[in-house]
Amino acid sequence: MDDERLISQERLGDEEETKEESIRPLSLERYIGQEKVKRNLQVFMEAAKMREESLDHVLLYGPPGLGKTTLAMIIAHEMNVHLRTTSGPAIERPGDLATILTTLEPGDVLFIDEVHRLQRSVEEVLYPAMEDFSIDIVIGQGSGAKSVRLDLPPFTLVGATTRAGLLSAPLRDRFGVMSRLDFYKLEELANIIMRTSELLDVGLEQDAAYEVARRARGTPRIANRLLRRVRDFAQVNRAKTVTIQEAEIALGHLEVDRLGLDQIDHRLLKTLVDKFAGGPVGIDTMAAVVGEEAETIEDVYEPYLLQIGFLQRTPRGRVVAPAAYDHFGWTETGKSNG
Ligand SMILES: Nc1ncnc2c1ncn2[C@@H]1O[C@H](COP(=O)(O)OP(=O)(O)OP(=O)(O)O)[C@@H](O)[C@H]1O
Ligand SMILES: [Mg+2]
Repeated sequence: MDDERLISQERLGDEEETKEESIRPLSLERYIGQEKVKRNLQVFMEAAKMREESLDHVLLYGPPGLGKTTLAMIIAHEMNVHLRTTSGPAIERPGDLATILTTLEPGDVLFIDEVHRLQRSVEEVLYPAMEDFSIDIVIGQGSGAKSVRLDLPPFTLVGATTRAGLLSAPLRDRFGVMSRLDFYKLEELANIIMRTSELLDVGLEQDAAYEVARRARGTPRIANRLLRRVRDFAQVNRAKTVTIQEAEIALGHLEVDRLGLDQIDHRLLKTLVDKFAGGPVGIDTMAAVVGEEAETIEDVYEPYLLQIGFLQRTPRGRVVAPAAYDHFGWTETGKSNG
């Protein structure tokens, strides 16, 4: 059986998805952290309601597991409208998108996950839809073909992406609101963990929550997963409440270190140090080193390593930073001082 991957974010299985649904906050009030994003959205939603208009289109971007899908659901919930969910790769032809758009009800939220992966021909349907709430469809074929303009109900497109940089400029420009989600602070993660522990009915001491939070890479999804695994250990050991000692033992077994780094992070950094004198190396080399796709490195591993200052980006590639050497107790051999 495959080890459960605690860090990397592949497509979630059905079971994991159901688990996620049960702990997702459904109101802005219960959504912890991301204060700036929440404050802005609150204002924009309230203003749209006062004007009895649909909310302007929203782009949510940031690393996996930070709460983009959750926010999309909250927006629909707070605006009291339906949520229609799809994703960039799922919309194969322009006609598929036209079908979705023409069956929306006024004010609905259309959530397109991985919006950077829309095909260009599909995007082209989206432009007038976003701008004028209309689409042009072609009826008939050959010389008899004619283009007909269809009006759509006003709607809100919520797009989510881990890579705003890959969005085409015309698409990006059509979002009235762009919100970047950042890694969560320790206290926010601890609060998320406490909240989830209540929902899962796990007794968890506060310092145990902080210990889980410290290793969660600033990411609620990882925090919740670590909590579930810690719960498993506590359950098997018949512990009623999880103390910090129990949390530490469980987390030790999971092989995530004090900063939430796992074997892949370790292997990645170690190989860069041993084989490339700490860099600079390109992203493709890094990917080859750990046998992951370049995209996974960029989406899942690199952002956190950059955030904690273990990797630095330079014009010539990525460089292992002194903080990483300190953390692992490596010496900077083969590197000039300074
Ligand atoms: N602000 C938050 N407060 C409480 N829980 C949160 C928050 N943000 C995310 N979560 C929890 O973390 C999990 C992951 O969030 P979500 O699925 O929204 O992430 P995402 O950004 O859409 O990730 P991906 O890029 O992989 O699609 C959810 O189950 C949700 O319960
Ligand atoms: Mg998501």
